[in-house]
Order: sequence, then structure tokens, then C-alpha cells
Amino acid sequence: MACPPQSDELIFFVNGRKMMESCADPEEELLSYLRKGLRLTGTKKGCGIGGCGACTVMISTYDPVSKKILHYPANSCLLPICSLHGTAVTTVEGVGSTKTRIHPIQERLAKCHGSQCGFCTPGMVMSMYALLRNHPEPSMEQITAALDGNLCRCTGYRPIIESYKSFAGEPTCCQLRGTGQCCLDQEGGVSSSSDRGDRMRSGLCNPEEFQPADPSQEFIFPPELMRMAQEQQGRTLFFQGERTTWISPASLRELLELKTKYPKAPVVVGNTSVGLDMKLGGVHHPVILHPDRIPELRIVSNTNNGLMIGAACRLAQLRDILMKAVSGLPEEKTKIFYALLQQLRTLAGEQIRSLASLGGHIVSRGSTWDLNPVLAVGNSVLNLASTDGKRQIPLTDDFLSGCENADIKPNEVIVSVLIPYSKKDDFVSAFRQAERRKNALSIVNSAMRVLFKPGTNIIMDLNILYGGIGSTTVSAKKSCQKLIRRQWNEQMLGEACRLVLGEIFLSPSAPGGKVEYRRTLLVSFLFKFYLEVLHGLKMMDPSKYPDLPKKYMSALRNFECRPPQGRQVYQDVDPGQPPQDPVGHPIMHQSGVKHATGEAVYCDDMHPVDGELSLAVVKSSKAHAKIVSIDASEAFKVPGVVDVVTASDVPGENGTKNEKAFAGEEVICVGQIICAVVAESDIQAKRGAEKVKIQYEELEPILTIEDAIRHNSYIGKEKKVEKGNIERGFNSADEIIEGKMTIGGQEHFYLEPNSVLVVPRGEDNEMDVYSSTQYSSNVQELVASALDVQSNKIMCHTKRVGGAFGGKVTKPSYFAVIAAVAANKTGRPVRFILERHDDMLIVGNRHPFLGKYKVGFMNDGRIVAADIQAYINAGCTPDESEMVIAYIVLKMDNAYKIPNFRVRGRACKTHLPSNTAFRGFGFPQSGLFAETWVIAVATQTGLPPEKVRDMNMYEGVNVTPFKEQFDATNLRKCWTECLEKSEYYSRKTAAEEFNKQNYWKKKGIAIIPMKFTAGFNMTFYHQAAALVHIYTDGSVLVTHGGVELGQGIHTKMLQVASRELKVPLSYIHLCETSTTTVPNALVTAGSVGSETNGKAVQDACQILRKRLEPIIQKNPEGKWEDWVKEAFKQSISLSATGYFRGYDGNMNWEKGEGHPFTYFVYGAACSEVAIDCLTGDHKNLRTDIVMDIGCSINPAVDIGQIEGAFVQGIGLYTLEELNYSPKGVLHTRGPDHYKIPAVCDIPEQFSVSLLSPSQNPHAIYASKGVGEAGLFLGCSVFFALRDAVSTARKERGLPGAFTLNSPLTPERIRMACADDFTQMVMGLYFLRVSV
Ligand SMILES: Cc1cc2nc3c(=O)[nH]c(=O)nc-3n(C[C@H](O)[C@H](O)[C@H](O)COP(=O)(O)OP(=O)(O)OC[C@H]3O[C@@H](n4cnc5c(N)ncnc54)[C@H](O)[C@@H]3O)c2cc1C
Ligand code: FES
Ligand code: FES
Repeated sequence: MACPPQSDELIFFVNGRKMMESCADPEEELLSYLRKGLRLTGTKKGCGIGGCGACTVMISTYDPVSKKILHYPANSCLLPICSLHGTAVTTVEGVGSTKTRIHPIQERLAKCHGSQCGFCTPGMVMSMYALLRNHPEPSMEQITAALDGNLCRCTGYRPIIESYKSFAGEPTCCQLRGTGQCCLDQEGGVSSSSDRGDRMRSGLCNPEEFQPADPSQEFIFPPELMRMAQEQQGRTLFFQGERTTWISPASLRELLELKTKYPKAPVVVGNTSVGLDMKLGGVHHPVILHPDRIPELRIVSNTNNGLMIGAACRLAQLRDILMKAVSGLPEEKTKIFYALLQQLRTLAGEQIRSLASLGGHIVSRGSTWDLNPVLAVGNSVLNLASTDGKRQIPLTDDFLSGCENADIKPNEVIVSVLIPYSKKDDFVSAFRQAERRKNALSIVNSAMRVLFKPGTNIIMDLNILYGGIGSTTVSAKKSCQKLIRRQWNEQMLGEACRLVLGEIFLSPSAPGGKVEYRRTLLVSFLFKFYLEVLHGLKMMDPSKYPDLPKKYMSALRNFECRPPQGRQVYQDVDPGQPPQDPVGHPIMHQSGVKHATGEAVYCDDMHPVDGELSLAVVKSSKAHAKIVSIDASEAFKVPGVVDVVTASDVPGENGTKNEKAFAGEEVICVGQIICAVVAESDIQAKRGAEKVKIQYEELEPILTIEDAIRHNSYIGKEKKVEKGNIERGFNSADEIIEGKMTIGGQEHFYLEPNSVLVVPRGEDNEMDVYSSTQYSSNVQELVASALDVQSNKIMCHTKRVGGAFGGKVTKPSYFAVIAAVAANKTGRPVRFILERHDDMLIVGNRHPFLGKYKVGFMNDGRIVAADIQAYINAGCTPDESEMVIAYIVLKMDNAYKIPNFRVRGRACKTHLPSNTAFRGFGFPQSGLFAETWVIAVATQTGLPPEKVRDMNMYEGVNVTPFKEQFDATNLRKCWTECLEKSEYYSRKTAAEEFNKQNYWKKKGIAIIPMKFTAGFNMTFYHQAAALVHIYTDGSVLVTHGGVELGQGIHTKMLQVASRELKVPLSYIHLCETSTTTVPNALVTAGSVGSETNGKAVQDACQILRKRLEPIIQKNPEGKWEDWVKEAFKQSISLSATGYFRGYDGNMNWEKGEGHPFTYFVYGAACSEVAIDCLTGDHKNLRTDIVMDIGCSINPAVDIGQIEGAFVQGIGLYTLEELNYSPKGVLHTRGPDHYKIPAVCDIPEQFSVSLLSPSQNPHAIYASKGVGEAGLFLGCSVFFALRDAVSTARKERGLPGAFTLNSPLTPERIRMACADDFTQMVMGLYFLRVSV
């Protein structure tokens, strides 16, 4: 394309290299420029909307006025390249590389096992790098805050924080925080050293091995950019794209002229609001103004009235300015600043805070934006300018609600904002409650300010604003007016609550739901403010005001986010083990360093192939409908569109008998793929897909489990297991209780979206398929059948997958079919990378669950009978739902021996996207449900839950309800060790004491046992094969059927090969999983991938070693290379396949008996939490896990799996909520609406111990499969929360028996802690709260 003559040359640096773009497109963002333009694929795309941090880079700028260089982290997915003129960008490749020198950040992250799948890792490195460039010795608080905006779905964050602790400029131990004992004094300490005779070790990496940090190695800021910054001060820059012009004026006068000329043009600073509107809302701006270089918009000055802050000041800068101000000014002047700082601590992540500007925040004024209510109650003033002159307007609720006469005019800009000082008799507070404490938009936020008549408690002025209630920030103006001149006392509070609830209206059908909760927050915040002010008055004049009752003080304190501490304890290897043998050692992930340098290649990182096309899909917008017509005519008019592919283009089978790749005549869920558009670029393909018109004839959908039961809509037959005599059991019981519970689904949220690249080889119908799948042979099979060719023509390759968790078992095969059909039709390679929102929409989730129980028990807590009915929402196709419900039925007893037991399960067929495999495969639902009916017995009998659990727990050799024998000795050992290690009883007493002292905050503690099974209930599902080659130079290439998903399977396979061949790890390489090397490989899932493939690798290596043995015996002093060369000379084959037939597994559902599981994994977890009864906020204080995983092949990998799964479990049970419309449309389609655990959610103290000594005769080297088990233990947090809620309820005189559904979100916690405020909201307008 010829470049428009008026375009300036865009100049910036990337990793020290000068970029000169004479044709810069204002619509291009840095992420695609890096990945596609420069082939710097280390920077990843996880979401594309600023929510995950995978795309983090560091931006450095030079300020010619202050002559300072500023470094900050930024989401490259939101950064238009045109905003980068004159800046230096550093990507992960610029930080360090294996080709030159890796940076200590990268090295430590890898050595501390801070990466698993590695997809989030470059972003983690960059956030830390930007922090270190500004603060070479940061505090732990700064380190954890720097990671606020980075999500990791694999590790559970603990090892990431651990690795970065080594940079902290302060001691990193617990500092005796409330524990009475320093963590460094505890047995074993936190370093990797202890040998106590029983060979237990703690710590998984050795800080002594770390390279020292060397700031002199960093890139220097390019001097050329400093010169440019000076010279280009006075020149307006134009960047002209195909559809958009970007104008960067150099003076305020020019900006104002431009704003007059283009009144509709946005003034883009951070682009975090405008950018999202463009991406998600399809908004297009022909002209964009970028005022970043205008000095007036960047001023910061102290005036007599307050702080004057330039509108282009970034939120991170604002935070630093306010911190400085509060430390230097008298407290009475800084109350507004404090309130702003409080909101800034949790607002978004550091990347967004570094981009987003104060002016942008104010003007974009989202209803949940956190600073605006504070600025408004603080009477902030906006200094506006236009070509007509200057004026000031107050930042009021009228401004925030967009009232025309209070708003800025289209030709005006905000130059600066005056944030006033507070007065002596002022009280200002800010509140917010979000789904997650950090990096989540508020559900409701608020700012409140009261001004008293000097020296009294008489209200002179009152201002209360709420966000998250309507489409804009709203004010309780009328209520405030009515309260003026009232005294600040209990009567006033009662009146205030009543008035506010009357004034702030929220209709029962308000968008966003949670209506009662949101209304409760209105008054809960008000109550908190009331107490804060009362406390403040008392502090000001102790003689005049009564003391606040001690137990009410707990309403005032917010939970703090403290850096996590933890210990990892495991058994050391036998002292007699040869030093070369790596089995049992915490070996670093095979790709750990490459993850950290960004060199690890994922599917979408592969360089484009000649002639490659991009593919985008057209999805059903109806849950159930007939397709009347597909009109693609407009799509073909989009430049670059090459073709539109539908079901009619499939030469062979369109998917499988159960699930179609392209919809046929009917659609059965929202998100079902109807057709695909292929184009020269991904943007063109997306634009084309948007133009395809589908006409539907709507049919009635079934969406919920209840609907499906009503319509008798099921997949497969009922699954049932029965033991004893259920009727007799109930007859013998002292008491019987019944109840039910729902457990919501869970989105996999792997960081790498589904990706596939298909490349026709050009002869014999051969095709290479590169897929991010857990199941390569299934991809091969479905593609072959769709193209009507033999499987031997389709080569499927998977190098690594950026997280999967079950979500990449079945669906990638259909994505591959779609891309392959398109490639077949066009004869060109096709790349299909799902956008995050499409991935979340199309790929199903963990199955939502409904359980009903009837339990009979004796007064001493012994359960004598349980009758369970379980349902799951399978969605629209069978997928793996029959297996999931089977596992739910088989695992419903968890750790409990119930003499008379019946469990029945059904998979409900609905018109939701088909739910699929997910880590734990049914057990997270059945286990939580089992614990729920056990705790119901404890509640009913009044016995401590741990006692009821203990007395009903399996002991010694036993049989399951389906008559499989097992030994529960290690279950008991885990339980006992966990009780001890967690100091359960003393902490329970301490929590009880805390609860007596604190009315509004409660602590809860719970310990949960676990009996988990690894593997599948079919023998053939465990078979595995491997291929091992030895080359004549002695190097070894291992391939096997398992896929590297982040779980460290390749690392373990290298360890196996090293032990068996008796060669060091450095000799062995593992390159990819491919159907060409190992055919018919089973899916990598069910926790057994490493052990089954390990057996196959072992077999192959043993065959090879046996062949070499005669040569070795002849030359025992020889080297490996000598033996290999000799073998070659003797024509001995140096290649072998290994095979493992699999464990026996069977289940006879007719009889309800079988041997479905080879062995069991045992564990126990104790968690302690604190809740805020007024908001539902909670804090995970401590978790101790003890797991029996046999002899670990790699304790770092296995503990990593336990921790990561546990944190995913915390997500399932307490955070992650899927939200569908009544028409079956999934609303939660990105990190903006769906919250997985972040750094702030992991327990402050988080310890994992592997049970020792433990052996497993069935699996390789006596190990056990551990990938999934830890997830269920996350429910210890659920039950600790329940414990806290139950204490609050008891204190408020509410019934002890109550239902808590999962996930236990802030909303559910708050509403379960019913009190006068919740009652008011329910319509009972009376107040009994007495203070
Ligand atoms: C992932 C993510 C998480 C977030 N989390 C939170 C959160 O937890 N809490 C919260 O409060 N907010 C949150 N936000 C919202 C964020 O605060 C706003 O998007 C941001 O403050 C907007 O600033 P900006 O500079 O990027 O605006 P831009 O997108 O650049 O501009 C926004 C609007 O402001 C106008 N504008 C900008 N400057 C001026 C000016 N000087 N004069 C006149 N008009 C101007 C523009 O014309 C445009 O209309 C989040 C955003 C993202 C993307
Ligand atoms: S890809 Fe940019 S934040 Fe997720
Ligand atoms: S390692 Fe963090 S997302 Fe996989």
C-alpha cells in the first residue's frame, strides 16, 4: 500500500533497535507489530483486552523537562504503535536470551519452578523487570503489587513470588507476623538444605546458585531519543492509516484547534477505555488526538487549595504523587488523597495503572470506575480549555452522569484537575467490593464525605456517591440533604440507611444481577463510614465521644494483601543413588529457561508459511434454532477475504456422529460454529466473519438442569452404585436430613487460546497439522475423516501447549477439521487462532452440578445411610459427559465409609455449549458434595466437623461401594499429619477467640480429607508408547505419546530416560509430540500421562540398554559415546519403541461393581480464612496440604501441580462464576468478567508436604499421578469460609443449618451473614444495630 504523503515517520526503539515506520497504521497495536511485524513472539496474547498481562512489555520515555527517564510496564495489546513515537520498548527478548545471556529474573524464575506451561511467563518477567528498573531493591509489597495485572493459571503463583523474593531489598521472612514464631526458626527453614535422617527436605531451589543482579547489563535509553524529545517538542505529528489518522499535537493551542476541527475525535492517552470500545464494541474513530507531549497536561503542582494534576498524568504516577503528598502534609489536609490511594491500590493491574490517565478516567467515567466518586465527594475541579477560552467546572455527580449543562463540551479538553486538600472537620472514606480483591472492576464502589460544624458532630455537609448501581456513578443527594444539621449518631444512621435505600433505585432485573447484594452493599458501606467517622471523632476529641465497642472496630479494618510465605517438604533421594540419576530430584522444567526468555515456541509463534491464510468463524447467536439461510455475499466484499467455508465443503465426515464440526441445518447452542471465513490477514477474516448474515427460525431451548429433568432430556443411561441396604440403613438411623446444593461450572482459562495451523504438503493429500491439543491422534483421526483421506496422510504435531486442564481434549480436533477443510478448499495453509472471547464461548466448561442428599446418622455422628442423586449439565453433545457422571458416581464417597450407600447420576442434555473434561473430571463436584452432606451431619449433631469426618473415615484395608479393594492407611496418615502440621486445634481455638472479639470479621478453619483416583476405568485408555533413538554421537532423542501441557511430562520423561540409559540429562533431547513418531497415542489426561508414557520410555530405554550391555561389558571403562559407536559398527539397532499396555480397569454398570481404578491418591488440606461480614470479602490466611503421591519422580513438578491445582480449586469454589443470559448466551467471556485467582488470592501461608515414606507398586518408580488431585483440596477454603459464615450466623441468632452453593462468592458470603442490613434490603425497614 502506498503511504499517504502527509504521514510522519514513526520512530521508536525495540530492544535497542531503531524502528522507522513511514506507513504506521494508527489501528495497529504494539502486540501484533511485535509478533507479526518483528517476529518477536516472546510477548504473548492471552486475552487482547488488558486483563491477563501475558503481553506485558516495558516502555521507557524521556521527559525533556525533568530530564528523567521513566520506565513502566504496559499491556502491548492495548498500545497503539503510534503512541510510541520517541519511546523505547523492551520485550522479553531484550531482557535476556539463551543465545546471549539470560537475565537473573529469567534465571531465578526458571530455577524456582515459576513456570509450568510458560505462556504467562514472559509477562511475569516483564512486570518484574519494569519494577527492578525503577526500584533495584523493591519491597515485597512492591513485588506483589507489580504482579497485580498478571494472571497465571498453572503455578498458583507461590513459586513466582518465591523467585522474585530474592530481589527484595528487605528480609523476606514472616517477620513474626502474628504467629508468635518466625518462619525462619521453624524446623527445616525455607532453604533447600535440611536432612533430618528421614530424608525430608524443604525448599525446591537453591538461591546460592543464582547469578547476581547486574544493573550495568541493562539497555541504556537510546541517546537519539533524548535528542528527538528535545527537538520535536514543537512539531505536530501525523500518522495516516487506511481508516484512521493519528495526530499528536505538540502544544495546547494546537490540541485545542484540532479539537475544534474534530470535536468527535477522542483524546487518547492510555487507550484503555477507547481501545476496548474499538476492540469489543466495534467503534471506529477516523481521527484520534494524542496529547501526551503537551506540558500543560502533565503538570503537577501544589496550590493553596490542593494538588493540581495534569489530565495526562497516569494513574501510577498519580499514586506516587499522592503517596509523596500524604507523607509530607498534615493528615487533616490529605483525607481525600488517602481515599484515592486506597482505591488506587486495588484498581486494575500495574500495567493499566501505568497507561490509564486521570483525564481519561474522568471522561470515560464508567459506572464502576473507582476514582470518580472520591474526586466528586472531594469537590475536585476540572480545568478546561478550548479555542473559546478556559473555564472551570466542578467534578460533580451531574458531571459523572453526563448532564449536558455540567459536562465538558465536544471542543473542550481537560487540562488539569484540582484535587483539594481536606479540612480539619472533614471525614472522607472510599469503599469498593469486587469479585476479586485486585484487578477486578468493582461490583459496587462508593465515596462518602461528611463535614461537621467545627468542634461538634453536627453535619454541615454530606456527600455520598455510589458506582456500579446504574449506568453512571449515582449520588444519594436527596438523602444527604435531609441529614444536614443532624447529629452523627445511631438515629441518624438508621435514617440514612432508610433514605439511601429509598433513593438509590436498583430494579430487580437490573443488568449485572446481584440486586439484593448490591443494595446491601449500599448500606453496609454506609455503616462502615458511620463507624469510621465515629472513630475519627473520638480520636479528635476523646473526652467528648464514647469509645467504639471493641468488637465493632473489626468493621473498620480492610484485609491487607501480604506476600505469601510457604514451605514445600518432600523426601530426598536415597543417598546411594548415582549422582547422574536425576529421578527424585527437583529438576527444573525442561523448557523453564525458554519460557522465561520467550524462546519457547507455541502454535501461534510459528513463523507464517508461504501463502498462509487466517481463519475466523461465524457462530450461532441462538441456543436452539433452525438455520434458514447463510448469506456470505457481504463477506466476500471485504478486502482480503478469500473464501467462506461451510459444512457443504467437507469432503468426508463433518465431525463425528456425536458432534459436528460445522453446524448443519440446526444449531444447538450459542457459539456453535456455522461457517468460517478465510482471508489474507486475521483482521480481514474477522471483518469478513462479522459480515456473514445468518437467518434462524428459533426453537425452544433447554438450558438448566431443572429444565432438562422436566423434559426428561438426558445423555446416556443413569449410572448407579449401591452398597448395603439403604432402607434398612435409614430405619436404623437416629435422625435423617435432606438437602441439595448446586455447584457452578468453571472455565478452563488456559492462558493460550486454542490454536491450529494446517499446512498442505502439496502431494498425496498430505497435510501437517500443528495443534495446541491434548490429544494429537484424535486431531489426526478427525481431520483424516473430514478430508476423506487415510490417517497416514495427516501428520499432527504438538510442541507444547500453553495450559489445557481438559479443555483441549476434544475441541481442538474440531478446530483442526475446520482449518483443514478450509486449507483443502483453498489449497493454502490456514491458521486459526481463537480470540479469548470465542474460546470461552465455544469450548464448554466444567459441568455445573446439582446434588440432592438424604443422610441417616446416629446421634454420635456415625453416618449409617446416604442416598445421593447427582445431575450435571452436559450441554448440547455427549462429549465426555457420560464419563464425568460415571466418575461423580464412583467417587461420591470421597474418604468416607458409609455402610448403606446409594448414588445415582444423570448427565442432562441442554442447549449450552457442550461441557467437557476439566481437571479432576467430576471429582471436584462429587467431593464437595460429599463434604457438604458430612458437614450437614456435623451441624445437626452439634459435633465438630473434624470429629464427624474422622469417625466416618475409611481405615486400613477396605472396599469402595463398587467393591474395589484399597488400603486407607495413607489416607489416615495424611489426615493426622495435616492436623499436626497445621496446628489445627490450637488455631481453631485462636479463631474462636478472635471471633468472640470481632463482630464484623470472622475467622473460619476447616480440614478436609481426600481419596482420589488417577486414570481411567478402561484398560486400553492407559496404553502408551515411546520411540527412543540414540545417534552415533551419543545423543539421545526421546519421543512419546504424551503432550507437554505445562505439567512437566517431558521433564519427567527425560529423567526416566536418563536413569534407564544411565546417561546425563544433557545427552537427551525431546522435541515434540507427533503422530508420525508415536501412533495412536491416548489423550494426555487423567493424571496418568507421565506414568504411562514413563513406562513406555522406560521400556524403550531398557531395550536399548540391553542391546548395549554386551559391548559395555567388554569395555566397562569406556565412555557412552564409545559404546554407541561400537554398537553402530556391529550393526546393532540404536532405535527402539517402548510400549506399556496399561493398567487393568473395568466397571460393570449393570452390577455396579468393578475394578475401575488401579490405585488411590490420598491427601488432606487445612485452610483458614477471614471474612468481612459486611461486604463478603474474604482473605485466605493459611493452607497446609499433606499429600501421598508415592515416590515423586520430580518433587518440584509434583508440588507445582499440587499448588497450581489447589489454587484452581480456590477459583472453582470461591471465585469463578459463569454467567448466562436467560437465552443461553454466555456473558463471562474474558478476564474482564470472569475472575480466576490472582496473586492476591493465594493463602498468606501456603505449605505443601509430601507424605513419606510412601510407595505405589503400580506406577513407575513407585510414583503416583498427581496432576488433578490437589484441585479438590481447594474446597478446604470453601468449608473454612462456611465455618466463618456459620459463626457469624450463630452470633446473629440465625439457624445453624443453611445451604451454601458453590462458588462461595463475596455475594453469597455477605448474604449468608444475614443481619439488619440485609433485612432492610429485603424490605424490613427497621434497624436494631446498636453501637
Ligand atoms: C483491564 C482493565 C482493568 C480496569 N480496571 C479498573 C478498575 O479496577 N477500576 C477502575 O476504576 N477502572 C478500571 N479500568 C478503567 C480505567 O480506569 C480507564 O479505562 C482509564 O482510566 C481510562 O484512561 P485512559 O487514559 O486509558 O483513557 P483513554 O482510553 O485514552 O480515553 C478515554 C476517554 O477520555 C477522553 N479523554 C482523555 N483525556 C482527556 C482530556 N484531557 N480531555 C478530554 N477528554 C479526554 C477521551 O477522549 C476518551 O473519550 C480498567 C480498564 C482496563 C482496560
Ligand atoms: S493479552 Fe494483553 S493483557 Fe491479555
Ligand atoms: S505457567 Fe502461568 S499460565 Fe501456565
